[in-house]
Amino acid sequence: MGRRFFIRTYGCQMNGHDSELMESILLDHGFLRADSEDAASVVILNTCSVREQAERKAIGRLQALAWRKAAEKNFYFGVAGCMAQNLGKELFCRVPALDFAIAPGRIRSVAEVLKRLENGEKQIFLPNEEGETFVNGSIDFCRRKITRVSAFVSIANGCNMNCSYCIVPKTRGREVCRSMDSILREVQFLVEKGVSEVTLGGQIVNFYGIRKIPFVNGKSPFVQLLEKVHAVDGLERIRFLSPHPSGFRDDLIDCYANLPKLCPHVHFPIQSGSDRVLRAMRRPYTRQMALNVLHKLRRNVSLMAISTDLIVGFPGETEEDFRQTEQLFDEIDFDMAFVFKYSPRAGTQAAAMDNQIPGSVCEERNQILLKKLAVTSLRRNQLFLNSQQPVLVEAPSTKDPRVLWGYTPHHKKVFFSASEKLIGKIVPVKISYITTCALNGVLENG
Ligand code: SAH
Ligand code: SF4
Ligand code: F3S
Repeated sequence: MGRRFFIRTYGCQMNGHDSELMESILLDHGFLRADSEDAASVVILNTCSVREQAERKAIGRLQALAWRKAAEKNFYFGVAGCMAQNLGKELFCRVPALDFAIAPGRIRSVAEVLKRLENGEKQIFLPNEEGETFVNGSIDFCRRKITRVSAFVSIANGCNMNCSYCIVPKTRGREVCRSMDSILREVQFLVEKGVSEVTLGGQIVNFYGIRKIPFVNGKSPFVQLLEKVHAVDGLERIRFLSPHPSGFRDDLIDCYANLPKLCPHVHFPIQSGSDRVLRAMRRPYTRQMALNVLHKLRRNVSLMAISTDLIVGFPGETEEDFRQTEQLFDEIDFDMAFVFKYSPRAGTQAAAMDNQIPGSVCEERNQILLKKLAVTSLRRNQLFLNSQQPVLVEAPSTKDPRVLWGYTPHHKKVFFSASEKLIGKIVPVKISYITTCALNGVLENG
């Protein structure tokens, strides 16, 4: 019988997608999926380095796995993903029992690494190689084992920006874009397998192909890609993650009117409301430029849902800078916001800045924004009360299998009672009750 493996995923959707790919590769090589870490004889942590806390959590878990390895013959554990690249060989010093570390650009070798371990090799380390960081190329998608009605489709990997706080360019390398043809073939493949919704993903999706593919009639390569994906028969919904505020031009804004499958929700990472901080972050847009895009979206698209990422306590962020972020928060009424306390990452420019902000101030600012968010997200959800929403049904809820959940086009999670037979379908639900983080409703007839 094949070995059982378990993959625990940290970090962003790119990592989620990489875990899915590793899983498919391992299944193809005769490995079996375990339902829990305890039932597995191979455990892989697919890790994130974006904040220190994410790394600390993974190291803690690795240390626990090292104890297990000491007690259990034939047990292997390792790290995949961003920490493998960021910390490299240092990981083997911090966790000497660690069997392997595979950087994001090398995860296709996961089955081969396990074979090498079985043949007696120890401490295998595969760092990224120049130009090899693109993971989900055309050869891989046909291996995908489809588990959800909504699928992530990687359109680019890596990042060429140089935001002063961010470790991602180090962990994922220079940006490599996939060909439109390969992306379209994957979308077609997914639709044939029953997928109704795709999320086109990359670190900055709206810069897709910008250096290689010419603009056509004022349309960027990303907009051209959206139009082509939109034309795929049988596909119901399109989302993308994440765009960059600079380069979010009218051709992209117009897509919300021209492409009905494009969902009326955007994740728009602003990071700060202060121009001074944005400059120090090396984000090449101003507060006003970002606001202009968001106001246009809210004007043009009915109930446009907007979520964002914000960092509080960036080095040198003054009370006045933070007030600017608060004002921006009040002006936009975000549906959702991911508020992060700044975390210094070794080797980034911001980590070397001398005006670091004390943790207590970061915490205070974090709490202020979270309180605002509780109010705005409730207010935004209220807009859907008593309306009928088309819900793409994903799965039964973990608490009660008679309750299903799914998403509306505005990316609102909805819970309602119905039979599991509806999974994968888009059904009308009348919204009867809301909370800050979800909508609840009743299934309507057709
Ligand atoms: N490519 C995306 C972001 C990827 S990282 C973009 O440019 O928008 C996801 C989020 O993590 C970022 O938007 C940022 O808000 C946060 N982040 C990145 N580095 C961070 C750090 N050092 N400390 C705190 N938050 C950070
Ligand atoms: Fe990091 Fe900036 Fe690239 Fe986003 S755009 S991944 S924040 S360097
Ligand atoms: Fe984390 Fe790597 Fe994603 S650092 S946020 S898992 S690209």
